Amino acid sequence: MTSSAFNPVPSDGVTRAVTVSVTAHAPTDATLLAYPVTTAGDLSTDVGTGPDGLERLGFKGGAGQHIILPQQSGPDVVLVGLGDDVSVAALRDAAAVAARAVPTDTGVALSVAGFSDFDQAELAAAMVEGAVLGRYTYEELRSEAKAIALQRVTLVVDESAVAAAQAGAERGLILARAAAMSRDLANAPGGSLTAPVFGELARSIAESAGLEATIHDKAALESMGCGALLGVNAGSTTEPRMVVLKYTPNTPTAHLGLVGKGIMYDSGGLSLKPSDPMHAAMKMDMSGAGAILSVMSVLRELDVPVAVTAYLACTDNMPSGSATKLGDVLVSRSGRTIEVLNTDAEGRLVLADAIALANEDNVDAIVDIATLTGAALMALGPLTGAVLGNDDDILTQVEVAAELTDERVWQLPLDERYRPWLDSDIADIKNIGGSSAGSIAAALFLSEWVGDTPWAHLDIAGPMRSETLEAWRTKGATGFGARLLAEFAANFVAPEN
Ligand code: BES
Ligand code: ZN
Ligand code: ZN
Repeated sequence: MTSSAFNPVPSDGVTRAVTVSVTAHAPTDATLLAYPVTTAGDLSTDVGTGPDGLERLGFKGGAGQHIILPQQSGPDVVLVGLGDDVSVAALRDAAAVAARAVPTDTGVALSVAGFSDFDQAELAAAMVEGAVLGRYTYEELRSEAKAIALQRVTLVVDESAVAAAQAGAERGLILARAAAMSRDLANAPGGSLTAPVFGELARSIAESAGLEATIHDKAALESMGCGALLGVNAGSTTEPRMVVLKYTPNTPTAHLGLVGKGIMYDSGGLSLKPSDPMHAAMKMDMSGAGAILSVMSVLRELDVPVAVTAYLACTDNMPSGSATKLGDVLVSRSGRTIEVLNTDAEGRLVLADAIALANEDNVDAIVDIATLTGAALMALGPLTGAVLGNDDDILTQVEVAAELTDERVWQLPLDERYRPWLDSDIADIKNIGGSSAGSIAAALFLSEWVGDTPWAHLDIAGPMRSETLEAWRTKGATGFGARLLAEFAANFVAPEN
């Protein structure tokens, strides 16, 4: 992409112009109103047909199902199935299905009146997230947008819930924007969104989001001794960047470090990846760094009470005459030496230097997020991220945020018995383990740089991308981790030790 008319990511800091409103009465100007319903067909409003009629038309209220019922007067009705398990997550999914049921409408109205069992702010946030993310498309590199953008979300709620829902809807919009930005970044091609471009984007986002930004270029990284990141970059004609962003609220209650893998494109290096479709997905190997940049962009809007510093290790991983060779030894920022026996295990290398920097800043806890191992995808599939760590308190806080956002995670053990697999014959450690437990070995490698700092590691190789369109997960980059980490940061409490 050479024409300057095309930007890999929206130039306005990746905001999308969606507005939300909340009302206790069905809006008169709406052309269509969506109602989530269960399999029981428990519809409070008269739509001209009952459960039997609906079933005759093939609508049973199952999750993911919807039916449009044109009305004689007032807005047409779309019923969206929730399945038997009515939860905030099911309602978020339903909002996505509803928003897509009317793909040419620029506005969507969703009724959640009567769902009084749920926290109304949480529910409203989820509905907005579902609608906005369900209608997400990546259009930046088309001459003309293919899809019609959603511009307005209206929520119809119980009279008593208006204030809470209004606040929740606004919060949901912020979280959805962060997730959409994270998708934009990951969908952007590796040749367009390079490490230097990412650095410049981070700088401009930092300026509008009230963050302090330090973008370390190659020369800076050389003097800083970030030999692991430089080793991954060695085969590339494009410079690396270490992007450090600081968010400081008025009286911070704690200091959180977020570390992201920013491999702008992972060819595997000299351990070249085979030419299968997964290879093309490797433009998304910066999904961790992208999720964090997106989170950083909304911390002030969310009024997060803790200080957060982001360390994003950015480079592509390319083979060439100058590339790191198998058997080469890199000297990382902490001084630890690493024998590189597979150049495709590059994520852990760049993270080692970034984690070292986080530790030097004495953060209260580190959470890293990375598309780290194919093994995580094999073990948990595309719907669930792997989480490992050294501190139960932090792991629990991650799990709570995952539950809230329905960006689900499952814990794998950080089993020290596999640590000898990483022993090197000539250096302090090598960058690959054995033929199994790949996600655990990668986490054990990272733990060497983490030391005693409370830490959780999110391996999002599986959920970084969706091959299908399902509820809020649109096809392509999912933005997984952005909403999770934003909730995590908003509720973060430093572990006591
Ligand atoms: N970026 C990949 C991991 C990945 C695979 C992410 C599939 C998303 C989808 C990572 O850098 C990698 O190549 N890891 C190797 C490690 C191995 C060489 C020890 C892997 O998982 O095969
Ligand atoms: Zn790799
Ligand atoms: Zn990678």
